[in-house]
Amino acid sequence: MRACFFGDIHGNSHALEAFLLRLPEWKADAVYCLGDIVGWLPFGNRTLQRVRALGFPTVAGNHDLLVSGLFRDHPGQADRMQATAYNAGLLSGMEGAADYLSNLPLIREERDFSVVHHSPFALPAPGEAPTIQCFDYLDETALRGSLEAWRSCPKRLIFSGHDHVPAIYELSYSRGTPRFGEVRAFRPAGMEPLTVKISSGRRYWVKAGSIGGPYRDGCPCANAVLYDEDAQTLTLLRIPFPRGELHRELSANRLFGTIPTIRKYLELLEKGPC
Ligand SMILES: [Fe+2]
Repeated sequence: MRACFFGDIHGNSHALEAFLLRLPEWKADAVYCLGDIVGWLPFGNRTLQRVRALGFPTVAGNHDLLVSGLFRDHPGQADRMQATAYNAGLLSGMEGAADYLSNLPLIREERDFSVVHHSPFALPAPGEAPTIQCFDYLDETALRGSLEAWRSCPKRLIFSGHDHVPAIYELSYSRGTPRFGEVRAFRPAGMEPLTVKISSGRRYWVKAGSIGGPYRDGCPCANAVLYDEDAQTLTLLRIPFPRGELHRELSANRLFGTIPTIRKYLELLEKGPC
């Protein structure tokens, strides 16, 4: 069985199409979307329409829920709020868009893996609605705080998105309280895909990185993950996409020219391949 995971598309239809064009070559039996179909770029209507039509199993991202009005953002997230408001306006004319986004599940459980936008250990209590606090980033502090829960998690693999930084974390199965020093991190260098052989005695938390950006590892390419159960491998995929048209379209949006995160994103798109 081979499964492919992608998410954090954020309105970048150019990167999404580049990923979909390559998808057949990875011969995936199942494809999962890790959420954040919309948000950030001012083209969320395009990617939402495309992803809905594809019908892949999908989990909710924080941007999907923000745009659909399920909860408010942190007061300090001015850039994100501006992009959210714009995307909510775009989707207001799309039949059923807000209902679709707000009804996406927060997690999907498969036989040996969980699929979630951020963390299976930061979900709301049963019966409670999610809040923005369910979507902090998986930085070192958050990873340290999750070690105990991660080790006792019944699933061997976790696939998530959210941070826009592709990485594979490996946790060994020693006895006693898990220590942060037991976590090994694997990250791709440049545009080369990175394949990691997985071991039955270990657990893996795989961050897919982002299809559409903003790219927080400084590499302007689409990212996805392939899990090959038979070969027992995980591969972080790096997929180039045509950046010129996106740059032109984004530059033409004067409102988005006032958002510092988007200005930085445009500068990164101007860079050559990393
Ligand atoms: Fe995202």
